[in-house]
Formats: sequence, structure tokens, C-alpha cells
Amino acid sequence: MNINQSLAQRDLAVLWHPCTQMHDHETLPMIPIKKGRGVWLEDFEGNRYLDAVSSWWVNLFGHANSHINAALKDQLDHLEHVIFAGFTHESAIKLAEKLVEVTPIGLTRCFYADNGSAAVEVALKMSFHYWRNQGRPAKTKFITLENSYHGETLGALAVGNVPLYKETYAPLLMDVITVPGPDCYHREVGESWAEYSIRRFELMEQTLQQHADTVSAVIIEPLVQCAGSMRMYDAVYLKLLREACDKYQVHLIADEVAVGFGRTGTLFACEQAAITPDFMCLSKGLTGGYLPLSAVMTTDVMYQAFYDDYVKLSAFLHSHSYTGNALACRAGVATLEIFQQQGIIEKNRSLIQTMTKVAARFHDHPHVAEVRQTGMILAIEMVKNKATREPYPWQERRGIKVYQYALSKGVLLRPLGNVVYFMPPYIITEEELILLAEVAWQGIQHAVKA
Ligand SMILES: Cc1ncc(COP(=O)(O)O)c(C=O)c1O
Repeated sequence: MNINQSLAQRDLAVLWHPCTQMHDHETLPMIPIKKGRGVWLEDFEGNRYLDAVSSWWVNLFGHANSHINAALKDQLDHLEHVIFAGFTHESAIKLAEKLVEVTPIGLTRCFYADNGSAAVEVALKMSFHYWRNQGRPAKTKFITLENSYHGETLGALAVGNVPLYKETYAPLLMDVITVPGPDCYHREVGESWAEYSIRRFELMEQTLQQHADTVSAVIIEPLVQCAGSMRMYDAVYLKLLREACDKYQVHLIADEVAVGFGRTGTLFACEQAAITPDFMCLSKGLTGGYLPLSAVMTTDVMYQAFYDDYVKLSAFLHSHSYTGNALACRAGVATLEIFQQQGIIEKNRSLIQTMTKVAARFHDHPHVAEVRQTGMILAIEMVKNKATREPYPWQERRGIKVYQYALSKGVLLRPLGNVVYFMPPYIITEEELILLAEVAWQGIQHAVKA
């Protein structure tokens, strides 16, 4: 038995992995990773895997990035963590200052939590609590979009809409108002993304008009519904939504957990609509993919609504033990330094074009219904019938076939159902993108034949 096999065996004896039917590992090998360098992961037998999904969309500048490594080593010698109530530290302050600087104008307050779902919980609670403090306790409902995803904790799951994750737990979840979304995969032939997004907004406008008195906030993934099969829409929807939320006095929560930090081509997706949400949830890329941390950015108006004498009991008493963890915050500071010092958003423009170029051949594939791209996110929708867009039955698990094939060729692709996507670290080279596209092509060929 080699080291890979013996670690896999020990793993399967004691561990329970996320988002996994563990039974699958009777046939799918568990892959123990020895080290990561740049876009490459390496196992104990020297096999290398190109991390085309940025390890669940978190990694931005490669594994073992020298700048983030050095910052963390320095932080480790000074402070690993301290209680974040009554105490503070420089890395938390610096990161908050930087986030205030780079997020849309008007977001002047930063509240830390430790993962994306927790950030969503914070935003939902803050929104409701704001209205309560304002003497409007009837505003208890949330509006969400069809096919949205906001995390796995019960509140976040309730405002999500992907049946695979949600249905089982439905009896435990709060009621939400779900509005058909602007997912442009469903637009008419000849209709532009903008036209479809505007048309679909009518349903949101009607819902807001009807429920404004009882709705606290609308929560949305700006531009790309990532876990919902990388479905995309036009920025005009966000612009209209901001206007309508103002009109009906409803908060706008922008969940940029997945799309933040450059994924859509701008540092934050909201920039493309030139809007400031009332709450912006950030995580994943926040630490460059190093450590769990999240932040909810909000406005001075929100902050002031909680600021009063203690005896009024209007404070936001939400907390997590690891709030503002010093190592995680320092990784966040180092990550934003890389963005600023290396002009990453500019540099990514040519990478985005290269991604478009390498994926061009997929448009004509007989089992590809759509190739769509928003910035550094590119998705390829495999279907059974290109003309009718009839999907492959999910039970056939074509995506897993692509996954297995790609692994055998040294690429980590992890399709969402029948959707193969690229969301690579920003240090990927043109040659690596060409390799990635070739392996994805062969993987799809293999999956559609099987
Ligand atoms: C848009 C969005 N929100 C929230 C989350 C939840 O983040 P976490 O997995 O860190 O809890 C995710 C995770 O994929 C996400 O894509």
C-alpha cells in the first residue's frame, strides 16, 4: 500500500467529508494532498493536479503564495488570536480600513464572522434588527431568488433555493418569499442578457410592491448564481433592484461571498451596476484562500440604528468565538496588498480574454447548450439534446465522469451537476488554461459517450 492509499484508508475510517455521499468513496479514490504550489496540488505519489476550481472558489493567488506566507509567519510571532469584544488588534483594524476603502462608497462599517454562511446570518439578523430598532417589527420576511445559494446554516439555507441542498431540511426552515430569477440561460432566442434581466425584474418589482410592509431585505448573489450551476445575468437587474429597494424601504443584501474579490472582472460585482447595497457579505477570497474569515460591510445608517445606551437593549449581540481572528485578518490584509500592488484587476483582463478564447470551441460541441462567462468565471452546460436543451438526467451523474477523467489527466475540475466550470486562481498561465480547456473537452467527450 502506498502513502496515498494508506492516508485515504485512515481518512475513510474516521472522517466525514462535506457535500459528499461517503459511499461514493467505495469507487472514487480519496486524494491526500501533500503540498500545494501556485495552481498545482501534489499528492504523496508525486501526481499533480491543476486546481481549476480554486479549492471551492477561495484561492486567488495560488497555494503557498510567498507574500501571504510571509505575512502569516510574521503575524504568528506576534498574535494568533485575541477575544474581539473589548479588545482589538492591528490586523483587524487594517483589514477593515482597507475593506472600507475598496468596497462601494457608503460601506463604512465592517462586522467580522468566520465563514460565508455566518456572514449571511449576520446580514439577515442585522437587517431585521435594524427595522425593529426603528419601530417596524413587522418587517420580518426576506425575498430571495429562484436558484440562489447562500450557505448551509439554517437561516442561510432558508434564503437559498437550490432544492438539492434545501428540500430535506424544509420543515426546519423559516418561510421566505421566492421570486423567479433573471437566470439568462432561459432567455428567448435573440434576446440579450440585459433585455431578459429587465423583463424578469418585473416579477421582483411586483413582489416588492405587494410585500413591502413585511419585508426586511432582498438577498441576492450579484451577477452569478455560483452554486446554482453558475447561472448569470446582467448588471441592470442589480441597478433596478437597488432603485426598487429604496422605493419600497427594503434592504438590499449583496452576497458577494463567491463573486467578490475579482471573480466577475471587477473587484466586487456590485461595481458593475454602480450600486451600494445596505449589506455586503464577503468571505472565500477575503483571505486569499488561506483561512476562514468573513465580513459584513454595512453603512453608517445601519450602525447608528444600534448605537445607544446599553439599557435600551438595541445592541447587536451576535458573536462568534473566532471573530476577527488575527491570522485570518492578516491574510486578508496581505491579499488586498497583492490586489493593490500588482494591479490584479487590470492584469486579469487579458486572462479573461484567454479564457474566452480557449473555451470558444465548446460552443459547437454537440452536447453543449451554452458557454457563458462573467469575468473569471466560465461555465459549460452539458446537455443530452443540444437543440431542445433537454438535460441529462441527474441520476446519470455525467459531471462526476468529467471529474474522474480530469483527475486522471492531472486537473481538478469539480462540475456542478452537468455544468463544467473554470474558476481558477488568478496566477494561472495561458498554457495552463489551454491544458485545462483540452482536458475539459476530452472529459466531456468521455462523459457524453459513457
Ligand atoms: C454566494 C454564497 N454565499 C454563501 C456561501 C457559504 O459560504 P461558506 O461555505 O463559507 O459557509 C457560499 C458558498 O459557496 C456562496 O457561494
